[in-house]
Amino acid sequence: MATPFAGKQILFGITGGIAAYKAADWIRALRQDGAEVTVIMTEAATKFVTPLTFAALSGHPVECDIFTSTNPESIPHISLAKQCDLLLIAPATANTIARLANGMADTLLGCIALATRAPVLIFPAMNSAMYLHPASQRNIERCKEIHYTIIPPACGAMACGDQGPGRLPEWPCAQAAIATALSPQDLANQHFLVTAGPTQEPLDPVRFLSNRSTGKMGYALARAAKERGAIVTLVSGPTAIPPPWGVKLVEVRTALEMQQAVSEHYPTATVIIKSAAVSDFRLTQSSPQKIKKNSAEATTLGLTANPDILLELGNRKGASTSPILVGFAAESDQHLEEGQRKLLQKNLDLIVVNDILGHDTGFASDTNQITIIDKNGGQTPLPLLSKDETAHRVLDRIKHMLNS
Ligand code: CTP
Repeated sequence: MATPFAGKQILFGITGGIAAYKAADWIRALRQDGAEVTVIMTEAATKFVTPLTFAALSGHPVECDIFTSTNPESIPHISLAKQCDLLLIAPATANTIARLANGMADTLLGCIALATRAPVLIFPAMNSAMYLHPASQRNIERCKEIHYTIIPPACGAMACGDQGPGRLPEWPCAQAAIATALSPQDLANQHFLVTAGPTQEPLDPVRFLSNRSTGKMGYALARAAKERGAIVTLVSGPTAIPPPWGVKLVEVRTALEMQQAVSEHYPTATVIIKSAAVSDFRLTQSSPQKIKKNSAEATTLGLTANPDILLELGNRKGASTSPILVGFAAESDQHLEEGQRKLLQKNLDLIVVNDILGHDTGFASDTNQITIIDKNGGQTPLPLLSKDETAHRVLDRIKHMLNS
């Protein structure tokens, strides 16, 4: 599948809270991710931000009223409700949540919520005392009973100066929740263990041996699996990118630390993807003091081989209860032959081969061009795609294996 947002129709309901201005950034981000956004505003929302702002940002007229449609040829609440893949309401005020909980149809948004069969995703945002009031909590529970998804607000300082729960969450959290709502939950109940990034092998307190991996591909795999309903543990070497929302992050530095973390999480994993670029060697003896340039150690480094973590996992594989084991092969030469060799040698189910010297496929790039090789020798070359889309294609293949 493509990324969850590509080509999706999102109806974005904005209600009358101070956080309405934040919807502007969310609309831009959703469009950048490939979604079509149509905005509906309650009358109260128009007191905070004008419809013109959201019309310009979404590229579509904003609908505010049941009786005055921007398109006289259609019945807005029915046509909008039928077209959309998701009804997203952010910020959702206490008043709107109370109306939705009771199925009230006296606003355009209320009518659409009743008329649509698409998932409804609600982001409450209000003063924390209002949010915590038993009436609001009861209304939120009622919304959940009718299968609306409620994303709890973030905690922090309110516009009024109070502290507590009630803030609209930051975009990465919202993006993950929206992606999940738009994705088939076809990996639900699966436990993914993903490794990503480089490892670093210390030479002394200031230097280390490492490689150019940025972790982008592994993080994209962890994010995509989470969006599709999996429980995900991400064992990551040092990277500069934020962990995907909702994923359990285990930070490691060296190959030995990665080996330990992987071994601990192995028993619960149903799928293991080893996309980390593990250093093959570490210093036999790292120096506790900074190595001086005129010392003997400065010119000769004594190295010891690191364990091959994936090979160990392959050797550990038994019969039916073993996790699906997926390796990566980052190659500069003889790609497919090398991939095939590593697949057999490490007893893998799949290996993902990519060209680290390619123009848009190497380290740090946002795109990748891979070939997936299976244990029967079948080869599936994919076109140049974003790393997010590449991740979803790899997961499609894993899902197919889980089903069969
Ligand atoms: N790998 C591992 N532990 C290591 C080295 C590699 O788990 N010490 C895993 C990687 O995470 C990857 C796969 O093995 O999934 C292949 O890694 P790669 O660096 O391409 O190959 P190597 O096995 O190190 O072989 P070579 O250095 O000969 O290319």
